[in-house]
Amino acid sequence: MYKSKITGLGMYVPERIVKNDELTQYMDTNDAWIRERTGIEERHWVNPGDGNTTSKMGTEAAKIAIERAGLTPQDIDMIVFATLSPDYYFPGSGVLVQEQLGCNTIPALDVRNQCSGFVYALATADQFIKTGMYKNILVIGSEVQSTGLDLSTRGRGIAVIFGDGAGALVLSRNEDNDDSDILSNHLHSEGKYAKELTNLVPGGIHPPRELVEEWPIDDLSYYPYMNGNFVFKHAVVRFPEAIMEGLQANNLTPQDINLLVPHQANLRISQFVQKRLGMKDEQIMNNIQKYGNTTAASIPIALTEAWEQGRIKRGDLVVLAAFGSGFTWGSNIIRF
Ligand code: UT7
Repeated sequence: MYKSKITGLGMYVPERIVKNDELTQYMDTNDAWIRERTGIEERHWVNPGDGNTTSKMGTEAAKIAIERAGLTPQDIDMIVFATLSPDYYFPGSGVLVQEQLGCNTIPALDVRNQCSGFVYALATADQFIKTGMYKNILVIGSEVQSTGLDLSTRGRGIAVIFGDGAGALVLSRNEDNDDSDILSNHLHSEGKYAKELTNLVPGGIHPPRELVEEWPIDDLSYYPYMNGNFVFKHAVVRFPEAIMEGLQANNLTPQDINLLVPHQANLRISQFVQKRLGMKDEQIMNNIQKYGNTTAASIPIALTEAWEQGRIKRGDLVVLAAFGSGFTWGSNIIRF
């Protein structure tokens, strides 16, 4: 078995910054409510026509990660791409990145696990490195969510939360004979709650033809739906569970963590998790204030920013954890 090492990190967000106050032009909301309930102050949204798509933002983040790894796109052996907002219904966005980067005809795999997407994607890449099948794998999380939101007051419970952006990392075979590795991955799902956080339409059950020809005017299932309180209550249980499961498997405790990088769902959720695990402020990365909830992109964006700020060094114990639609949740325990 080989060890896995993160050798490069990158992120990309669209230029346009949408402050909470701007949202009051579209819906009945206010800065105080958004800050108090979510911690969010601003987020980045694509501008129609600015060329930013989910795959293109993923490609931009990937270019930085590949360069920082000291590699070229031709050195990449596989792409794992996590998103809930792909450019197309099919094919997936991974193949678009393969083309945009000019990689060889390597495999490209799309992961559909929403907020837990990056944790699942990294766990998947880790298996291919550990078995020796591939040496350098690009793992991307990218989302354009703003264009699919209901920006009227009806959709305010969701629209104020989500942001656009991308993050990427290169996971390589550890050939340096040091301790860097992904120590464990723990992944879970509970499909009975699939409809508590979902975007039902269009899909196989309600295909686009139905939407065009006979859709009831008052059925808004083509917008994302979230049972906010219900999701919140599960999140604050599953986050600590997934983190503790990973730590215990490695005989570690929360005090051993140098940096916890949770999926940026809601600042209140992260604070709850921190308190539950008895962790100090410097042990947890929060940047939802600037980016909102960018779903599969939130962990690689936060990880990249933490690394750029010097909050992660080689040998540190870094823990990633996520919870979201599915429900799905999980953790990666990393010796950086
Ligand atoms: O990322 C993957 C997983 N996602 C999550 O983990 C998100 C989990 N859920 C949450 O973060 C929170 O439930 C929300 C931030 C979505 C909502 O916060 P909340 O404290 O649960 O608020 P609420 O839905 O209970 O709404 C409270 C009140 C309601 O008014 P009434 O009925 O009390 O009069 C809402 O209509 O706040 C109202 N409200 C708003 N007011 C101003 C809802 N959205 C807004 C808004 N601006 N944007």
